Amino acid sequence: MGTAENTDRKEVRKQVPERVSRTGRITRNFFLHIHAPRVHTHSMKPAYTFGLGIILGFLFLVMVLTGVILLIYYNPSVEHAYRSVKDIVYVVPGGRIIRNMHRWAAQGMVIVVFLHLVRVFFTGSYLGNRSLNWVIGVVLLMVTLLSNFSGYLLPWDQLAYWAVTIGSNIAASARELTDLLGVTAAFDPGGFMKKLLIGGETVGQPALSRFFALHVIFLPLTILVLMGVHFWRVRKDGGLSRPAEYAGDRVGEQRWYAWPVLMWTELALLVGTVAVILLIALLADAPLLEQANPARPENPAKSPWYFLGIQELVSYSAFAGGLLVPVLYLVFLFSIPYVDREDRYVGTWFSGKRGLRVTAIAAVGTLLLVISQLFVMIRHGWLRDWFPGISQGFVMLLNPATISTMLFIVAAEAVRRRTSSTRMAALTLFTCTFTALIIFTAVGIWFRGPDWEFYWSPAQWPVQ
Ligand code: HEM
Repeated sequence: MGTAENTDRKEVRKQVPERVSRTGRITRNFFLHIHAPRVHTHSMKPAYTFGLGIILGFLFLVMVLTGVILLIYYNPSVEHAYRSVKDIVYVVPGGRIIRNMHRWAAQGMVIVVFLHLVRVFFTGSYLGNRSLNWVIGVVLLMVTLLSNFSGYLLPWDQLAYWAVTIGSNIAASARELTDLLGVTAAFDPGGFMKKLLIGGETVGQPALSRFFALHVIFLPLTILVLMGVHFWRVRKDGGLSRPAEYAGDRVGEQRWYAWPVLMWTELALLVGTVAVILLIALLADAPLLEQANPARPENPAKSPWYFLGIQELVSYSAFAGGLLVPVLYLVFLFSIPYVDREDRYVGTWFSGKRGLRVTAIAAVGTLLLVISQLFVMIRHGWLRDWFPGISQGFVMLLNPATISTMLFIVAAEAVRRRTSSTRMAALTLFTCTFTALIIFTAVGIWFRGPDWEFYWSPAQWPVQ
């Protein structure tokens, strides 16, 4: 009986059309499951995506794998955290490399996520039906930064402690406004945000526990889910964006089988990503200062580098730099695909020559504007130095952060009127804000020393 059934099955299998057996193969093959079977030739051009989205996925994979190994030895209590990290570095075989890889992959993710955002924006890939995926991307950007920030505290060294202390003070930025209005005692959203983040007024065990839970469970799971939806949307939206002239679907000419062309490309990117991270991990150690000491502040105390642009703005005004401008920036990022609907610009870098000109002018203009403001501020001081009795409200309203933001909005509106194009206006605003962010971050990283004073190099810092 069994033998007859087997013979029948073999017969049926022989008769199954090629199409069905291919479907079966796809269902069993993970790679083909998450990719479309065919990929457009335009999507395979290296200078279109630079493989940045895929590299991000692989960096996340490296982080998860190395993170799980670190978890075996790490102890999330203020008494033992530092010691356990020291053990990982000096006692556990291979521990130093694993920790370095985790740290550098995390930094890599922050850099690559910004590069990916820039490529997606400048190729107009939020246009058409991709608005939802852009929004998911912005959330991924925020979660990536938060994930990085939450990991920063875990070694519990001086660097970690004071960076997170600064970060938590930035979270309390709204207090500048409520203090000015005299309502902080009754209404303190800044204090609430800070407490939510670190579980108290100062960084201690509640902060470490929160950051640990966020870092090892909540944020990685969120990234995993969002990444899944993000990849699925790329497929649902018809693959990667491409210019109108490639829109026609002459299947044979314009599409290649994903298996094996895309598979080999992605494998090469995986090997390349792991090799680069491993090489950096072999050459450079992740920092580990002495154990956190709440009684001995670092001077300068700096937040993680990707928040130093915000810290620079906070030094002008806590409310404007820590809350108003970042919130406006996020509103801008989230709303781009809903305000700019000029779908004809999809898929071309800078939307052509006119867009490239607009981008270049916006970048140079911002460079001149921001640097001249910084020059005035550093050389001659700002409102409070000129008028010591001035109300903080004026300083909050008029400082390089708010002035730049207002001028960027005015410039974008002027470009919109002149060109009758929302895409050109979006290019202007994005370029201005991004260039300014880079300049403020660079100043925070390299040119701020003790008491947040300007120095050309750390060699000029006063001996403390
Ligand atoms: C952890 C973060 C992220 C991961 C892992 C990720 C991954 C990817 C991948 C694999 C692709 C397809 C290939 C490629 O474009 O290189 C892609 C495309 C895309 N991503 Fe991301 N992404 C992330 C963050 C972002 C951010 C921050 C944005 C923008 C706000 C964004 C918006 C998009 C859009 C709109 C597409 C479609 C592009 C097109 O059709 O050409 N993603 N992403």
